[in-house]
Amino acid sequence: MRELTKILMILLVVFAASCSIDNSKKGGEKEKFINDLIGKMTLEEKIGQLSLFSAGIDPTVPVSNPKYADDIKAGRVGAVFAAFTTRDIERLQKMAVEESRLGIPMLFGYDVIHGFKTIFPMPLAETASWNPDLIRHTARIAADEASATGVNWFFAPMVDVTHEPRWGRGVEGSGEDPYLASVVAVARVKGYQGDDLKDVSTVAACPKHFAGYGFVEAGKEYAPVDVSEGRLRNLILPPFKAAIDAGALTMMSAFNDVNGVPAAANKFLMTDILRGEWNYNGFVVSDFGSIDSLVVQGYAENNKQTAELAFNAGGDIDMESSSYKDNIPALVKEGKIDIRDIDRAVRNVLNVKWELGLFKDPYKYIDKTREKTRMLTKQNLETARQMAWESFVLLKNNNRVLPLDLKKYRSIALIGPLADNQADYMGTWIAQGDTFNVVTLKQGLEKQLPSGIRLNYAKGCNIEGDDCSGFSEAINAARRSDIILLAIGEKGNMSGESGSRGDITIPGVQSELLYELSKLDKPVVLLLSNGRPLAIEKEVAASDAVLVTWIPGTAGGDAVADVLLGQYNPSGKLPVTFPRSVSQVPIYYNHLPSNRPGDPSNRYSCSYIDIPFTPLYPFGYGLSYTTFKYSDLKLDRKEGGENDIVKVSVKVKNTGDFDGEEVVQLYIRDVAASLIRPVKELKAFKKVFIKKGEEKTITFELKPERDFAFYRADMTYGTEPGRFLIFAGTNSQDVLKEEYLLKE
Ligand code: NOJ
Repeated sequence: MRELTKILMILLVVFAASCSIDNSKKGGEKEKFINDLIGKMTLEEKIGQLSLFSAGIDPTVPVSNPKYADDIKAGRVGAVFAAFTTRDIERLQKMAVEESRLGIPMLFGYDVIHGFKTIFPMPLAETASWNPDLIRHTARIAADEASATGVNWFFAPMVDVTHEPRWGRGVEGSGEDPYLASVVAVARVKGYQGDDLKDVSTVAACPKHFAGYGFVEAGKEYAPVDVSEGRLRNLILPPFKAAIDAGALTMMSAFNDVNGVPAAANKFLMTDILRGEWNYNGFVVSDFGSIDSLVVQGYAENNKQTAELAFNAGGDIDMESSSYKDNIPALVKEGKIDIRDIDRAVRNVLNVKWELGLFKDPYKYIDKTREKTRMLTKQNLETARQMAWESFVLLKNNNRVLPLDLKKYRSIALIGPLADNQADYMGTWIAQGDTFNVVTLKQGLEKQLPSGIRLNYAKGCNIEGDDCSGFSEAINAARRSDIILLAIGEKGNMSGESGSRGDITIPGVQSELLYELSKLDKPVVLLLSNGRPLAIEKEVAASDAVLVTWIPGTAGGDAVADVLLGQYNPSGKLPVTFPRSVSQVPIYYNHLPSNRPGDPSNRYSCSYIDIPFTPLYPFGYGLSYTTFKYSDLKLDRKEGGENDIVKVSVKVKNTGDFDGEEVVQLYIRDVAASLIRPVKELKAFKKVFIKKGEEKTITFELKPERDFAFYRADMTYGTEPGRFLIFAGTNSQDVLKEEYLLKE
């Protein structure tokens, strides 16, 4: 019977859609269908399409029968957040499709940030792979797994550039560079949305948080944001634009204000730039409850005004606050909101539903067989392992202590609170990931170490707190071993939303444990688990090797073991600058030039008198088990006009003892400009595999109208003639340099 109703409903919708083609003289099938539908909707139903509520937020109420079930049946809910099983989503969708007057299907949104069931490394870690194809692939897998349950909309990717390591949400993004963040944003949007939105495994992407969230003052969560328009346009907005150009169907606004106007009610952002300048025709959803909090934020006098301000600024969907639902009817009556604007917003929402194919089949995603078979497959886990390998960044490797030479060691000490820890390898936003599926480092090593080699494990201490009572056991384990592996760092939930830290050192007594172990005169390998750049100058000095493993996800322990044992040669590069101390923050490679550039020998330079001004590790940094030598940076021309492509080549030779991958990075500097430009800007990169002893010539093409353009002093976009420096190298600091002249 249920099947029959479903088939009838689908036939009805398809019939309605096909009728509309016949009636349509101009405009496509979709436009006609949507216009007809809007023509039939009451104001209440229209507002319903602009309202999103959460399933499962109230633990006393079953997700499948939420408090707002009657609202769904009355067409007053257009989208649901955080339902994630076929059982729940099917029941909810049925309420909308089979019990509401117009049967409009709902969107099911969820925070799928780094995997659904198979949990990949945190997004910042994935970025450290500098491998957009692989990132796209993990995004594809996340969409494939989640969509099998009926989820059809991801609140991802987060594309907020940040210069602020204290801010916890940096872990969800792609670091400090707008170009790298744009490349990654595109990879994720394409991964989620796939090649065909009608496919059952593709979901709508939702780049967030529009905009400026990465610049919250002092890195404090939910704090105000004050940025110049130049910084906004040149640094913060490019990844959003890239995501839109890649076809992202939806966008989420931010919690913060931007220069005094909350993002949730920011007309300049949502209407003038997004729709006016970028021709975006998807919808904008607010962040959770951020519309009614406009009162707290000091922008609206009362709840009623929140709806007026947010809606008229271009905010289409109200996530969770009920402000639209409660206030728009009166605001329309009073003439404060124009019904034509309501129709426009509804059209934006229906358009996304159409693009996903929900009008053709509202149940297309809900598939119990897929739900059972698509999760945590062998291939998915293999990809998670590969992604983790590529995300690790080798910061130090004195005396080539890594990869571990198993001929030399009979026993290995494995110490630290992150050595056998499932939860903290997962991080935050783990969707439906299960902690017990995570492979810990201890498990990974036990699987792979030959039987003749003993693994002496001791936890040593907790991640937080000042309890040193486990030190002696750890020191004993280390004494009995030939080499020490120490896995320390942050808890998984020390980053992510509301994970801002004022002190970005390694928490608790973990560093003290390291210092004790380093006195034993045995090689120490520091395996750092972290969701942000940490200030680790002393810890690096106390270690022989340092590998940043970030928050590596389900396959983390296998992947770290692989890298330690040389099954994979590290290739990751930092997408963020590592400071020496928190007092250097913000510290980032793409800063503007000073009139007195930093010079350690000159007190009157852009520096400090008490601490160095240089980073511990620069953006783009990362070692390999092999070494690469750069030479012969060449431009095929020394000057040219805006339309002349500049071909850049550089030779890279693998001079070490291992085959390996290198991320060859290309930077530029616009020497003089109406709005001064960063001392370096990443413009291209290639990750290349080079066999030991082999030399490759890597080529890039710079297109001045694309790569030299920026928002100038008058906020128009374009190039300015003059000198440019072109750099290529292994990180943002160690580069070869050439000069180019862009002529009028
Ligand atoms: C608040 C977060 O800022 C946003 O990123 C997330 O998508 C929503 N909550 C929903 O969980």
